[in-house]
Amino acid sequence: MARVRDLLLVLALTCVTGEEVASTPKPIKVLDTIMNPSYIPAEEKHGFYWKKSAITTLKSKLKETKNVNKAKNGILFIGDGMSVATVMAARTFSGQLERGLGEESVLEFEKFPFTGLARTYCIDAQVPDSACTATSYLTGVKTKYGVIGLDGNVTRGSCHSQLHRGNWAPSIGQWALEQGLDVGLVTTTRITHASPAGMYAHTSERNWECDADVPKECLTLGCRDIAYQLVMDNPGRQFKVIMGGGRRELLPNVSDPLVKTVGRRLDGLDLTEMWHVDKVNKNATHQYITDRNELMKVFNSDDLPEYLLGLFKDDHMDYHLKAKDQPTLEEMVEVAIKMLSRSKRGYFLFVEGGRIDHAHHDSLAHLALDETVEYSKAVKKAKLLTNAEDTLIVVSSDHAHTMTVAGYPSRGNDILSTVDTATGDDRMPYTTISYANGKAASIGADGKRIDVTLSQQFLNRDLEYSYPSLVPLDSETHGGEDVAVFASGPWEHLFTSSYEQNVVPHLMAYAMCLTEDKHEQCNYTPRKPKFWTSSASTTRVSLVPYALSILTVITMCL
Ligand SMILES: *[C@@H]1O[C@H](CO)[C@@H](O)[C@H](O)[C@H]1NC(C)=O
Ligand SMILES: *[C@@H]1O[C@H](CO)[C@@H](O)[C@H](O)[C@H]1NC(C)=O
Ligand SMILES: *[C@@H]1O[C@H](CO)[C@@H](O)[C@H](O)[C@H]1NC(C)=O
Ligand SMILES: [Zn+2]
Repeated sequence: MARVRDLLLVLALTCVTGEEVASTPKPIKVLDTIMNPSYIPAEEKHGFYWKKSAITTLKSKLKETKNVNKAKNGILFIGDGMSVATVMAARTFSGQLERGLGEESVLEFEKFPFTGLARTYCIDAQVPDSACTATSYLTGVKTKYGVIGLDGNVTRGSCHSQLHRGNWAPSIGQWALEQGLDVGLVTTTRITHASPAGMYAHTSERNWECDADVPKECLTLGCRDIAYQLVMDNPGRQFKVIMGGGRRELLPNVSDPLVKTVGRRLDGLDLTEMWHVDKVNKNATHQYITDRNELMKVFNSDDLPEYLLGLFKDDHMDYHLKAKDQPTLEEMVEVAIKMLSRSKRGYFLFVEGGRIDHAHHDSLAHLALDETVEYSKAVKKAKLLTNAEDTLIVVSSDHAHTMTVAGYPSRGNDILSTVDTATGDDRMPYTTISYANGKAASIGADGKRIDVTLSQQFLNRDLEYSYPSLVPLDSETHGGEDVAVFASGPWEHLFTSSYEQNVVPHLMAYAMCLTEDKHEQCNYTPRKPKFWTSSASTTRVSLVPYALSILTVITMCL
């Protein structure tokens, strides 16, 4: 049957293109300059090129088979604030960095076979924050704005409702631990920030990152800050890998000149020390590291510790383009996967590219796009180090932002520049990227729109240049539209269509056999867990019925 289908397919392709279709599209030619807006690659001017590339895509889709294996491992990537507009702009930016026109460039996760849309609202807010969304995509429960790891029966900032166990929503990290998997957490923000906290914390107030942030009466009642929960409570204390920034939230505020890092804690606790004591009590090898060198040493050692805590900055980690002594997200992901791959039962890893959001809040589009490209590199590394036969990778975002890509710039026009084809009705140029709101108002004191081309900062592509916005706000806001979900690996096809954001961890858990709903392969243990190839798979079924092939031939030859 499959052979007949392939033959029909070849016939179909031949009748459109007149020749065998190449298996991969031709790479776009490197440009001498992106400044020439009228440049169009010669091959793109021919309909043939587009038909051929479309058929290549069709052909690879027809080859797709349903992967219903057990996902031994699951990796969830969240690009904080990575709206669909951000994905398009970052892809263009990335292509232009490589001297291409840009639009045709593809980020790593855009190559994933299945894509869906997730609705991000909180139960009490049309446009969400990173706390209620983290609760949604990590615990599978939608909740209120500002709340983490608790359902909507809580009042934000109420310690009573936080302490009520019935309100707790455990994360997929905890579900994985309960099934004997190893769990890891990697972020570029403070490790206690809203998104990573969704993995381990139950807090009615996202800003309670250390005890200094928690009202006294709440501390008296027994409400713990987020850093404390990470180190001292389950599931955080069982995480094998924890990496990110936010050292200050774990360290005491002491006035000792010999102390390298002055923390924010007022309870005198050094949680890095308590993390160490906890692992000693478990008789487990462990290491606490604070810079890239130490991380590289861990990576290159034959004797990886059982537990790794890496806190690379006091606050958030630096933007990649401004960083000096810190690992990249890609490097952290590589070490995390190396650590977790030792687990026979598999692992769950949560990775956040957390500073896309921060750059957007300051309307720093250049940095937001670069952080997105870094995020894509980390996804690429994870894809390289794992196998789609046994590892499900899901890439998404928590919420959108107000950045738009507007006007009718020419093909290949610098995405960070002004629209090259037109001005506003006020005869002033305008940038392709702008924000609906944010810190750099587009209107000046004279009531007229500011000419961006008079700004040296803009012309120099300064990283600190804030793109113009309509409504002046100290901090640009999130956006309310859906975010994309990209999936690759076992049960990737479940991630298609449009759904609520809280569905994501349930789908992952189903693929990974973490819940009561078990699929056929849940009891199946592969013989060669690490290097088995696709031919070793016994569970693939054809997605494409025979009839579709015939239909394809008929439609194409018409
Ligand atoms: C809601 O939370 C309160 C505590 O704030 C608790 O007393 C009550 O039982 C909870 N309701 C449900 C349905 O769990
Ligand atoms: C530590 O406490 C001092 C005195 O209260 C304060 O000025 C300082 O800002 C605190 N440091 C941090 C990192 O919170
Ligand atoms: C601790 O671990 C080491 C090495 O794995 C082992 O030799 C030793 O017996 C363990 N000690 C305890 C108290 O479990
Ligand atoms: Zn934000």
